[in-house]
Amino acid sequence: MKLQLELNGTQHYVEIEPGASLLALVRRLGAWSVRSGCDVGDCGSCTVLLDGKPVRSCLVFAAKAQGRKVTTVEALGTPDDLHPLQQAFVDVGAVQCGYCTPGMVLVAYELLSRIARPSPQEIRQAIAGNLCRCTGYRKIVEAVELGAAWKSEGRWR
Ligand code: FES
Ligand code: FES
Repeated sequence: MKLQLELNGTQHYVEIEPGASLLALVRRLGAWSVRSGCDVGDCGSCTVLLDGKPVRSCLVFAAKAQGRKVTTVEALGTPDDLHPLQQAFVDVGAVQCGYCTPGMVLVAYELLSRIARPSPQEIRQAIAGNLCRCTGYRKIVEAVELGAAWKSEGRWR
C-alpha cells in the first residue's frame, strides 16, 4: 500500500507492507535515533511524536501515519548543534549509554510544550513509560528541569 507522511519536515511517499510498524518505517527513512528495545511496547525507546504526541512506534502501524506528522530527535538538533534540551541532558549527566535518550528527550519536549515548569513528580509521570537501565532517573529529571529553565529564559530556538 502507498503512504504519505511528513517526517521531520520532509514529505515522503512510500510503499509499505500493510502490517509494517511505524518504528520500521521511520528507521527505513533514516531516523536511526528511533530504537527498538523490546518491540512489544514496554520500554519506550521507540518513542516518536505523532502529530506532536508521544507514541510507541513499535505498537503503531505505519499506515496510521497516513497524512500525519512524525517527529524524531533528528528534527531537534544534530551532534554538532544540539537542541538546548538535548544539551541539558548532556550537561547534567543524564546520558550514559544513550539508548533511552532520544525517547526521553521527545517525551520531555512534549511535556514542556504543555507545562512550562513541571514539578519533579510531573516529569516522573511523563517519563514513566520510558525505561532507563543506567541513570536511576534522577539525572533525567534534573535535565528536564534545566531544559525547562533554559526554555523560560528564551534560550530555545
Ligand atoms: S521498542 Fe517500542 S516500547 Fe520498546
Ligand atoms: S542512559 Fe542507558 S538506558 Fe538510559
